Amino acid sequence: MRPWIGAPVWGEDLWGREAFIRRVWQALEANSVLLVAPRRFGKTSVMHALCEEPRGTWKCVYLNAEYTTTPVAFAVQLIHAAWEALPSWRTTFTKRLEQAKQWARASIAALGVATSPDQGFWLDLRRDMEREWQLRSLDLLQTLRGADARVVFAIDELAVMLEAFRDYGTSEADTRSFLHWFRHLRTDPGEGLRNCRFVLGSSIGVEGALSRIGAIDTINDLQPIVLLELAPADAKALLARLLDDAGLRVSPAAQKAALDAIGPGVPFFIQIMADALIAAAWAGEKVGPRGVRLVYERDVLGTHSRTYFEHYYDRLRRYDPVDHDLALALLRHLAEVQRAATSTLWAIYARRARDRRSHDDFRRMLADLETDFYIRADAATGEHVFWSNILRDWWRRYYGMEDGHSTHTRGPRVPREG
Ligand SMILES: Nc1ncnc2c1ncn2[C@@H]1O[C@H](COP(=O)(O)OP(=O)(O)OP(=O)(O)O)[C@@H](O)[C@H]1O
Ligand SMILES: [Mg+2]
Repeated sequence: MRPWIGAPVWGEDLWGREAFIRRVWQALEANSVLLVAPRRFGKTSVMHALCEEPRGTWKCVYLNAEYTTTPVAFAVQLIHAAWEALPSWRTTFTKRLEQAKQWARASIAALGVATSPDQGFWLDLRRDMEREWQLRSLDLLQTLRGADARVVFAIDELAVMLEAFRDYGTSEADTRSFLHWFRHLRTDPGEGLRNCRFVLGSSIGVEGALSRIGAIDTINDLQPIVLLELAPADAKALLARLLDDAGLRVSPAAQKAALDAIGPGVPFFIQIMADALIAAAWAGEKVGPRGVRLVYERDVLGTHSRTYFEHYYDRLRRYDPVDHDLALALLRHLAEVQRAATSTLWAIYARRARDRRSHDDFRRMLADLETDFYIRADAATGEHVFWSNILRDWWRRYYGMEDGHSTHTRGPRVPREG
């Protein structure tokens, strides 16, 4: 096993998610699922795993909605996915399409006698469905109810898709209408797909985006399941395995130092840490507990790792300018002091907002920062802390205080070993 940084992981590289996957399958017996996790925690890997080894009589098909920019494109994507997953349904679908000849002329012609429609067909179908797309797509999709199979649609990047709707000119009203259509498709006893389930993955809090457009109730049929860090024993075993397979002997104390530096055992961060340790060891450095700390400060948090975390900073640009400034102020403060009471954060917020924002706005911002996995409330003290050590250290280094007290200006604090 080698460090695997970036693309979804498969097979034996997918570490420590068996229990989570079992839990999702169990939930799917009764409900569709909202798979919630911060960026890079392994959602796509888990969704692929669901589809690679579907349980019982389920079939599972993966859809990436990241590039889907309109509601009608999404509806066609669903039909396309069902076509791929269910050869036995294709005849039913084709018949239904032919009955829709009033509006589906171009796609019927494009389908012709082809048994596997090409890209042109799917484009024609999208054009044919454009007007009245809700009714037309529902008419076609409903035929899935008669399919002799149970299907899971694993749909990745729901929130990114909804943002793309907005960016490509779908109005809030039309996005709301889309969300109601989608809920109807999942749940309606008469027309909904009772033999299908949906796993909707989202790396950013979809709740915030939906409540801003008054559509939070459109996902209340979904069972939220949160994908978090690995269990401590799995995190420890993953790091040990990666180092071991690279032929490195690293003491238990040094491995513990590596995991302590990262904080919660997010597999992606363990992979980055393992990769950096392997590179350092191969370059002749000692990787004892202090060496590990140096590697963490210098390499894991180094400028070339910026892309791993930069999206957390970039995402805040989606806020309006005043909220953006306020969110940055709160995060900068938390990065420096590590933990802060709500009242302290409110004081910072109120001073900066002057009278442009209310206390309710402040509470909403804290909730958004929590659902987007920047911060969490410490259950013991109620104080707010950064969600992970590594994100906090990174934030402090690159976006810390402007008065020269950030670690950025100090550089690595730990001397070399040996
Ligand atoms: N179970 C796992 N075992 C080992 N490594 C993992 C696991 N899950 C995720 N990773 C690590 O995290 C990286 C990202 O995984 P994946 O693409 O599945 O995450 P994601 O949550 O879908 O990310 P994004 O939010 O960017 O879409 C992988 O390249 C790998 O380094
Ligand atoms: Mg992903």
